[in-house]
Amino acid sequence: MNAFLSSLLLTLSLNGFVQAADSPAGDPVAGQAKTAVCGACHGPDGNSLVPIFPKLASQGERYLLNQLHDIKDGKRVVLEMTGVLNPLTDQELADIAAYYAGQKGSVGTADPDLVSLGEALFRFGKLDQGMPACTGCHSPDGAGIATAGFPHLSGQHAEYIKKQLTAFREGDRSNDGDTRVMRTIAAKLSNKDIEALAAYIQGLH
Ligand code: HEC
Ligand code: HEC
Repeated sequence: MNAFLSSLLLTLSLNGFVQAADSPAGDPVAGQAKTAVCGACHGPDGNSLVPIFPKLASQGERYLLNQLHDIKDGKRVVLEMTGVLNPLTDQELADIAAYYAGQKGSVGTADPDLVSLGEALFRFGKLDQGMPACTGCHSPDGAGIATAGFPHLSGQHAEYIKKQLTAFREGDRSNDGDTRVMRTIAAKLSNKDIEALAAYIQGLH
């Protein structure tokens, strides 16, 4: 593991630890009752069928809760969700995160023309440019590290992944914290790399 990656891992997990201490514990049953409006885009159990709407099923609870706060506070702009989270309390957001984290996520298929480049980047990074492998934080099967807030990626829609990696690279998504972890990594990715990673992740499990 290179020095860049180990220092990031340390900072990120410390941040995660601090946030965990003051968040209310989520109740998945109460959370499900609050998701009727979400299901229209994200699917009733969080397995969205529309490629621009991310799957939420089996996503890590800590990551989900962070995103819900960032979207509600406008630190991450999701126009489609404007106002949707405003009536929800911190407890209700925690309940919703617990609900989706407990659902089983579906997996798609990878484009065979892109999968070998995608796999190489995901597993080995770009050594010559000091870009770490994705596996260090998102794990080899894409499950992520839930306790650290590193998101689950496996089976996510390629179109959504492509949009996020491009947004991190262009600075249009900037809620990856003071470490700028995903902005730093995405800065080293070409459009072709992003296409390949997105295709690989969609079929990964
Ligand atoms: C009209 C469609 C729509 C509705 C309704 C909606 N969302 Fe979303 N949501 C989106 C879109 C689109 C994105 C991704 C935006 C982007 O590309 O960055 C998103 C992103 C998210 C994310 C971030 C996922 C990730 O992997 O980072 C979470 C969490 C989320 N929504 C939860 C909810 C919850 C909970 C509700 C209901 C209270 C809800 N959404 C309602 C469209 C919707
Ligand atoms: C050092 C740890 C680390 C490494 C290495 C890493 N990531 Fe991430 N990644 C993160 C963290 C932390 C987040 C969550 C940022 C946030 O809270 O918004 C994230 C978020 C993402 C997201 C957004 C997920 C979503 O649901 O919106 C994608 C896509 C992603 N990473 C892909 C990759 C790919 C592809 C690679 C390899 C090229 C990679 N990551 C390498 C830590 C890492």
